[in-house]
Amino acid sequence: MSDSYLTITVFRDERELAKSLADRLAADLARQPRQVLGLATGRTPVRLYHELGTLRAKGRADFSHVVTFNLDEFWGVSPRDPGSYRAFMDEHLFRRVEIRPEQINFLRGDAPDADQECARYDAAIASAGGIDIQLLGIGTNGHIGFNEPARELAARTHRVRLKESTRRSNAALFDGDVSRVPAEALSMGMGSILRARHIVLIATGKSKARCVQQLVNGPITTKLPASFLQLHASVEIFLDTAAAAGIAS
Ligand code: PGA
Repeated sequence: MSDSYLTITVFRDERELAKSLADRLAADLARQPRQVLGLATGRTPVRLYHELGTLRAKGRADFSHVVTFNLDEFWGVSPRDPGSYRAFMDEHLFRRVEIRPEQINFLRGDAPDADQECARYDAAIASAGGIDIQLLGIGTNGHIGFNEPARELAARTHRVRLKESTRRSNAALFDGDVSRVPAEALSMGMGSILRARHIVLIATGKSKARCVQQLVNGPITTKLPASFLQLHASVEIFLDTAAAAGIAS
């Protein structure tokens, strides 16, 4: 399919992808219960999270020893705000798999000082022993976390200004009102992401076909932050047929 370093698996549809990845993660946890998971928000991982909830309800997935770190959070937004990424994760994953608050690490969008909050987060990741498995989505513009296309990218967790396209695609969290989507966010940096021992990127739907094609076959460029994944030794990409349209042979 391609001569990329990346390991790519294509599933018939989103449902099959989510089930397969949920089974795989549950098996990983059965083998090694204490794992540090890097987690992502967005529409893409929702099915996966619900599948994990189903496995947990059947007693087939145990999250009691897991530690989590989410990639990003809106700046100026409290974790109790229904539009926050923390609220999203509570709804779609944490309450379903019964992850206790003390297992969860999250950037605080309402911290008094953004720089200190970002430094605190990088230190917390390091003191947890680093991330074992980092789950990623990809923006249609090639962003990962909130590392947006730019002339330069940041290695560490940092404060970012969001692109208009990114704000539009997050409007659903704010009752469809783009003007209410914060203009800034805190995000793990490229280095914080690439330090994870293993990375799993999921992309579904035809709107992702172009950035997936560039990620897999294009050059490494700050114009497509996800392209830096080509430098990592252990990356798996899970696609549905629509997102794989640009790389299918
Ligand atoms: P999406 O977002 O899952 O809502 O498409 C992905 C991302 O922006 O990383």
